[in-house]
Amino acid sequence: MIGATRAHYRILDSTNERAKALAEEGAPHGTLVTAEEQTAGRGRQGRSWVSPPRSALLMSLVLRDPPELLPLAAAVAVCDACEPASCRIKWPNDVWIDGSKVAGILVEGRPQLGWAVLGIGLNVTAHPAELHATSLQAHGGTTDVEEVLRHVLSGIEARLAAPAREVLAAWRDRDALRGEQVRWQEGEGIAAGIADTGALLVETAGGRLALDAGEVHLSR
Ligand code: BTN
Repeated sequence: MIGATRAHYRILDSTNERAKALAEEGAPHGTLVTAEEQTAGRGRQGRSWVSPPRSALLMSLVLRDPPELLPLAAAVAVCDACEPASCRIKWPNDVWIDGSKVAGILVEGRPQLGWAVLGIGLNVTAHPAELHATSLQAHGGTTDVEEVLRHVLSGIEARLAAPAREVLAAWRDRDALRGEQVRWQEGEGIAAGIADTGALLVETAGGRLALDAGEVHLSR
């Protein structure tokens, strides 16, 4: 069962770093690392992830033979865990409530060695420093980080076992960008959903493009 083996820290540099070290040492599928506070929490695109102590779920899972759609499946699982708040997903895996970010996901790993680390930062009571960020508490959700962890783990377990078409359908139902004008480093266009590979589809003046990785921003 995912999370059955758990290393919990009061303070740690980054749960992703610790989980990667454990994965390299042979930790089994589902090994969980959690921390009350991180001194060097990492986000996507080289950014940092900062949360006040004990105010966010800070977790990383070692996953062996992860599915290709892991980043999307994880985002859907986090949305499940945030219910009854209604979440949307900004491609590929930022989780939003009412246009503000409540959770971020950082997947790292060694695909050639058959493992990935799934890192999740979910603001529970945090009043995050980041602009346009929110918390579960701000939307009437629980303030109990352990309760949120239980929901996230069961969501991940369920979404990892689900067929890819179900994950894609659940992700598409929560797509925050569809129909929106977006821009990225090399261009701009209208977001047109995701391909079955998880790539973001964008209609541009020059035709339809599929973005596999990177960062997109809403133009407005
Ligand atoms: C992002 O939105 O940029 C992704 C943020 C991911 C943050 C989490 S917090 C737990 C885990 N450990 C890290 O160092 N990062 C992830």
